[in-house]
Amino acid sequence: MTTLTFPDGFLWGTATSAYQIEGAWNEDGKGESIWDRFSHTPGKIRDGSTGDVACDHYHRWQEDIRLMRELGLKAYRFSISWPRVLPEGRGRVNQAGLDFYKRLVDGLLEAGIVPFITLYHWDLPQALQDEGGWPNRRTAEAFVEYADVVSRSLGDRVRHWITHNEPWCIAILGHQIGEHAPGHQNPREALLTAHHVLLSHGWAVPVLRRNSPEAEVGITLNYTHYMPASSGEPDIKQARWLDGWFNRWFFDPIFGRHYPADMTAAYQAGGLLPQGLDFVQPGDMEAMAAPLDFIGLNYYTREVCRVWGAADNKPQVVFAAPADQRTDMGWEVYPDGLYWLLSRVYFEYQAPKIYVTENGCSYSDGPDETGRIRDQRRIDYLAAHFAAAHRAIGNGVPLAGYFVWSLMDNFEWAHGFRQRFGLVWVDYATQQRLPKDSAWWYRDVIAANALTLPD
Ligand code: FCB
Repeated sequence: MTTLTFPDGFLWGTATSAYQIEGAWNEDGKGESIWDRFSHTPGKIRDGSTGDVACDHYHRWQEDIRLMRELGLKAYRFSISWPRVLPEGRGRVNQAGLDFYKRLVDGLLEAGIVPFITLYHWDLPQALQDEGGWPNRRTAEAFVEYADVVSRSLGDRVRHWITHNEPWCIAILGHQIGEHAPGHQNPREALLTAHHVLLSHGWAVPVLRRNSPEAEVGITLNYTHYMPASSGEPDIKQARWLDGWFNRWFFDPIFGRHYPADMTAAYQAGGLLPQGLDFVQPGDMEAMAAPLDFIGLNYYTREVCRVWGAADNKPQVVFAAPADQRTDMGWEVYPDGLYWLLSRVYFEYQAPKIYVTENGCSYSDGPDETGRIRDQRRIDYLAAHFAAAHRAIGNGVPLAGYFVWSLMDNFEWAHGFRQRFGLVWVDYATQQRLPKDSAWWYRDVIAANALTLPD
């Protein structure tokens, strides 16, 4: 047996987001969000489901905190629904919405669980979408108002703030690929969205610091590890391009390096930026590079890229992995990618502190006749990724915590309820929560602050 012990005080947690678990989509004065609108639009969600009820966490939050306590979680990352707090996106505050989050935070603190709040996990108020959404610079201003309202109310008790979750998804999945709300397919809108999301982050940082002076402030970026399929020049160039499109376009400006010049040139050559970066106003790049206390990283997989000799030079990705090394999402299990990510963000970007704010896997393993859920595949996935993180810590990477995605099965965006990422099984018909084997295994890791691996 090998035992890998983690640093004292390491924050083991789980993560969720508002739209994926809360339900209560139109209760107690909540406004409509772009995900309400999107999921109510036929054809957008693969199983035709919506987040109207989801895990009903809005009504079952006390039971969910009890569950977290049973698992011994040290920390819990969740997001706030912007339209629950500001139904029109700005202006009028819905006190009932704010009160819900106050009770949740107080409940967590009473249970000895550290709350990590994500302000934006994709559920933009529909009222702001109607004014143009993220491609409209005014949405960035509205976000600062929202950050101010929430942090004035919770800033005395919350010590960890994350402005945004995964700007790449907001920009690219929402506005270029169109798989996520608002479902647009317009690459220009995607670049404007990226800019305004990053800008709103930078503008919100000083507001959060003012309202919550004891707190750590950061942002969560997602990362895919791109590798060339061969040592041939076209494949290497392709991997570099994808890394720029997915990773560097977001990491570079946050760390004060402006948008990557090779990508700006590529977008310009492709006709996407006829006037260059005309949406960048004086002071924007400085604002979005506001010094942070930590960076949150979400990691799931790698992609191996090959250029098939496509005439249009479109990015092509091939999964090299056999089926048994992929999760139900089709994503390859590749723990080394987490090791490289942590190393890169520390050694190349010099992040002062890092949290893995999401890592996990979708497997459909459900209850057997006795009600037990033997999700050994999830245990194997997590153990391998924890070990990769431990290796990075050994090399000096300042990793301070790790949040498994997710506490429980939930509404997996365009996939609906078909993908199950939870440590805890949710029976959506009865809302019964049933911890899987992985949940009990995780409890033991947390209690020992160590991972034990067979030799
Ligand atoms: C991330 C999202 C999270 C969840 C996982 C599987 O991109 O932040 O909400 O959907 O993927």
